[in-house]
Amino acid sequence: MKIHANEISALIKEQIKNYRHKIDSNDVGTVVSVGDGIANVYGLEKAMLGELLLFPNEVYGMVMNLDSDSVGVVLLGNDNLVKEGDLVNRTKMVMEVPVGEELLGRVVNSLGQAIDGLGEIKTKSRRPIEVIAPGVIKRKSVDTPLETGITMIDAMTPIGRGQRELIIGDRQTGKTAIAIDAIINQKDKGVICIYVAIGQKNSTVAQIVDKLKRHKAMDYTIVMSASASEPAPLLYVAPYAGCAMAEEFMYQGKDVLIVYDDLSKHAVAYRTLSLLLKRAPGREAYPGDVFYLHSRLLERACKLAPEFGGGSITALPIVETQSGDISAYIPTNVISITDGQIFLQADLFNAGQRPAIDSGLSVSRVGGDAQFKATKQVARALKIELASYLEMKSFSQFGSDLDASTLAILNHGEALMAMLKQKQYNVYQLDKQVFDLYVAKNNYLDNLDKNNVRKVLDKAYDEFKATNSNVLNNINKNKEIKAEDEAVLAKEMKAFFENLNQ
Ligand SMILES: Nc1ncnc2c1ncn2[C@@H]1O[C@H](COP(=O)(O)OP(=O)(O)OP(=O)(O)O)[C@@H](O)[C@H]1O
Ligand SMILES: [Mg+2]
Repeated sequence: MKIHANEISALIKEQIKNYRHKIDSNDVGTVVSVGDGIANVYGLEKAMLGELLLFPNEVYGMVMNLDSDSVGVVLLGNDNLVKEGDLVNRTKMVMEVPVGEELLGRVVNSLGQAIDGLGEIKTKSRRPIEVIAPGVIKRKSVDTPLETGITMIDAMTPIGRGQRELIIGDRQTGKTAIAIDAIINQKDKGVICIYVAIGQKNSTVAQIVDKLKRHKAMDYTIVMSASASEPAPLLYVAPYAGCAMAEEFMYQGKDVLIVYDDLSKHAVAYRTLSLLLKRAPGREAYPGDVFYLHSRLLERACKLAPEFGGGSITALPIVETQSGDISAYIPTNVISITDGQIFLQADLFNAGQRPAIDSGLSVSRVGGDAQFKATKQVARALKIELASYLEMKSFSQFGSDLDASTLAILNHGEALMAMLKQKQYNVYQLDKQVFDLYVAKNNYLDNLDKNNVRKVLDKAYDEFKATNSNVLNNINKNKEIKAEDEAVLAKEMKAFFENLNQ
């Protein structure tokens, strides 16, 4: 075979003629300035909002501002590794985090990387941290209770799966305690839990993880921590990243409980970012879109309709107030987005009434539909009885000669308050809650020494359980008190408290 040189050169010429290598100058930019975790990058006209950019030394950044001649980028790593003049590459991806069951039992940062020293987490899939919340068609109203194990909440401000219930109160009033108890109570209830710690001390998070482990709650829980020492961008993305992890489970048809502890610190991190990005400050120096910051997060909590798998995300956002002021900017915003709030009072907390839930200011707008019938049967009048007790209490401070009916209301109210006291990490199942509420409702506690109420109740429960465990099992199984069970309960309680008073 003969090869003609001119044939080869013709071929090569043809190839060169058709050679088109696309170099898109819009995909590489240059750092103009960098500092405080923020970089300004020139030459990325095509960058998208929220897109991830790759800086030298494997530092990633997220596009937050699209200005006319540059983009403002928050750095998700060490900003000392980035300098002016560095080249920046587009990734054409929005930020994603690893998701899936492999994360259960682990402690991760807001990028989904392990920080518990137990080695790399090998997940199979990833999800974008920002997605549009499911629309109206995909949703269904709440119909299943999410039991917190705290009698006062389950009886008066019940939470349904798919609901958003705000926990709000001053510092050190037991906000975190309520959320952690709710997580502990999900054991054997088929609910996956995610605890997102935003701007907390590492030592606090370590203690929480330790407590969860001790109560065997880590098996179904992911803890995400963006601690106070981390840069503001990592605090800012944490709740969205946690929500992406929750969504993975929800779309598999599972129920998820997610706690954001707390959104006040999240708003502060966002304010820091916004001011550094030179956005205009508004009320309390927060940027104008701080409402959208939380509404787009909390809207992602929902109960899906059965044809979409029927999964749910229940969100418990936490907000810290200053001296009980719930009309400040962030508290009012979040109150208006959520389906109710559990308001914790510093005064109650200091007086030893724990959990320090203010029965008047706490509401649940949708959870009542999902409340178990058994709880409804015994807790219907609780809120009104407490309200009239508190009213009488403030009146009775003025006069000493109180009539018998006022005294009875005061006595009953005090007994109820004593019954509703509950220690931390001491969650009650349905039968125990119903039992306590039943005894209180029937005025058996009114004449007891109020310091003994809890002790007597626990004794009564233990004795009743020893002889009539079937009644309690029935309540747990049927989720209601059947007439025959109530008859046994009534008889036994009458006997118990008659003997006690002798
Ligand atoms: N039901 C309870 N019974 C007894 N002690 C409680 C109860 N709830 C909370 N505590 C205690 O009160 C203290 C404050 O609780 P917690 O940390 O939950 O409050 P917080 O409002 O989350 O505080 P912070 O503002 O620091 O986040 C803790 O020491 C906790 O152990
Ligand atoms: Mg706390």
